[in-house]
Amino acid sequence: MKKRILITYASGLGSTIEVAQEIGVTLGNLGFSTDVKPILDHPQLDHYQAILVGSAVRYGNWLPEALEFIETNQQVLRKKTVAVFCVHISNQGDDAGSRKNRMSYLDPVRAMLSPREEAFFAGKFDRRGAVLLLPGWIAHLVPTMDRRNWKKIRAWAVSLQPLLQQA
Ligand SMILES: Cc1cc2nc3c(=O)[nH]c(=O)nc-3n(C[C@H](O)[C@H](O)[C@H](O)COP(=O)(O)O)c2cc1C
Repeated sequence: MKKRILITYASGLGSTIEVAQEIGVTLGNLGFSTDVKPILDHPQLDHYQAILVGSAVRYGNWLPEALEFIETNQQVLRKKTVAVFCVHISNQGDDAGSRKNRMSYLDPVRAMLSPREEAFFAGKFDRRGAVLLLPGWIAHLVPTMDRRNWKKIRAWAVSLQPLLQQA
């Protein structure tokens, strides 16, 4: 029987949605039965053997609805195979400082459950994000930065195959 996998996500401005969809398509191509749903839709968890949870990072943290999802469902999630991913723009480097900073994005998640796998993906930042962070006119000078590495995103999904098959 096909393993059923839920990919559920929280996104502020849309780039995490496409990351979640790409993971869903990749796992679907590998023969898994996948559903990709927003956390805000409060997806039912019972039918799934494994759950992948992803969120955009804002101000060093997952979006509030993603943390709330983990908190509310932690008893159920602890009994399932769970992997998590972050979509963010800073701290992409391989240096110790960047690594430490991006690892800390998941500290509140790890305090609630132990994900079997974690991934950190470069996201997309454009004027819509800049207006939330920078004073008016400066925000309008910010160019669109789409750093999403689809190859890396697909490779992560493929790497989960053995774990998900055992779920
Ligand atoms: C208000 C705001 C705060 C952000 N804070 C962070 C941050 O603390 N660290 C980081 O790496 N990226 C940060 N980002 C970048 C986002 O994580 C990145 O643009 C991501 O792709 C957004 O995903 P979304 O399009 O699904 O909302 C921030 C973006 C915005 C708009």
